[in-house]
Amino acid sequence: MKIENRTALRRADKPTVVEMKFSDSFLDEVRARLPVSQVVSRRVQLKRAGREFKGLSPFNKEKTPSFTVNDQKGFYHCFSSGRHGDIFRFVMETEGLSFPEAVERLAGEAGVPMPAPDPQYERTVKERLGLMDALEAAAKVFEQALRSSVGRDALAYAEGRGLSRETIVEFRIGYAPGGRDTLKNALLQKGFSEAQLLDTGLVIKPDDGRPTYDRFRDRLTIPILDVKSRVIAFGARALAPDAQPKYLNSPETRLFDKGSQVFNFARARGSAFDKGELIVTEGYMDVIALHQAGFKNAVATLGTAFTARQMEQLWQLAPEPVICFDGDRAGEAAAARAVDRMLPVLREGHSFRFAFLPQGQDPDDLVRSAGPSAFSAYLKNAMPLIDMAWRREMRAGAIDTPERRAASKRGSRRC
Ligand code: UTP
Ligand code: MN
Repeated sequence: MKIENRTALRRADKPTVVEMKFSDSFLDEVRARLPVSQVVSRRVQLKRAGREFKGLSPFNKEKTPSFTVNDQKGFYHCFSSGRHGDIFRFVMETEGLSFPEAVERLAGEAGVPMPAPDPQYERTVKERLGLMDALEAAAKVFEQALRSSVGRDALAYAEGRGLSRETIVEFRIGYAPGGRDTLKNALLQKGFSEAQLLDTGLVIKPDDGRPTYDRFRDRLTIPILDVKSRVIAFGARALAPDAQPKYLNSPETRLFDKGSQVFNFARARGSAFDKGELIVTEGYMDVIALHQAGFKNAVATLGTAFTARQMEQLWQLAPEPVICFDGDRAGEAAAARAVDRMLPVLREGHSFRFAFLPQGQDPDDLVRSAGPSAFSAYLKNAMPLIDMAWRREMRAGAIDTPERRAASKRGSRRC
């Protein structure tokens, strides 16, 4: 029972915030009890070939087996995609689990108990769980508000954008009421402390000493979930077309680290795996509209520049995610900036493709105006990164980015 509790605590944590350390001896114990061939054979039909096993790559469609497993060395190697790793990496790459999730799963299968966390760690996890409870409670308050009379305009706005009831339920879309502290009072009533509410970013403390108040007021709310579908933040859209800012997001908190988040990761995971394809957009509404149109393998980077951590997340879901850009000059410049960020982190079997949509249209506009098949056609025509990099070189004079200018200045100084 004790162990189970501890496991639950570990499971509840996100490795980016509290660095999870597993000892080498613990990991080796799990590896020793689970041959790579055993773990792999659940996904890949293996045939013995000398000292090794061979099978069809789970990463690429192929007719001739190029995927090998060596139990003595404890590794698999995929010649078609260049992917290589141990049992933990295999589970991460084929099921989109994080490292701690993969460790927990395989340790369970191997019957090796998870190591006990230290008290400091346990305290941190408990605090984080408390914040998650508050965010979950907020999501429920917002969902209910959307269905009540205060949320009438917000519901009409969502429906006006073509969102079905089913989509609203699926994405847990809600309404943050317009009062100064409606949410704060509702959550205090449920037993959460003001300090907790401040830590979640749901409530703001003004500098002038006045009472704290709700961050999100009179907006449509979209919960941002972590890899385990727990609410860690919100995006909130204004209802009026001219309201500023259009989207208000949770600030960075102990749970929400923007640079390592990808919106809709948890929901898109299964479908991206099945299709071997991932669609990457810029906005919440693009993902939601695509999901409703049948493209369940879509995620968004939420208007941030691509970070290395986001790119690793995208690669957990597909080897060559397709990034959607607007077909205008701004879209092309954004794509060029993306290329600059991608080139340093590329490796074998991991790349990106670029889809350029019609001028001034985002995926939400496109699927709604022209339908899913029109959008599919743009996906099919997506340009490989290497062609993109080449095109950018050719047009470097016309489309320049700050990164490029800095790089070429550095280059000329060196000469
Ligand atoms: P866009 O301005 O392209 O909006 O922002 P959108 O996604 O098409 O939104 P709709 O369709 O008008 O509702 C793309 C993303 O950039 C972030 C949001 O994550 C948004 O989805 N953004 C945009 C903000 O965080 N704040 C803003 O004020 C605007
Ligand atoms: Mn839009």
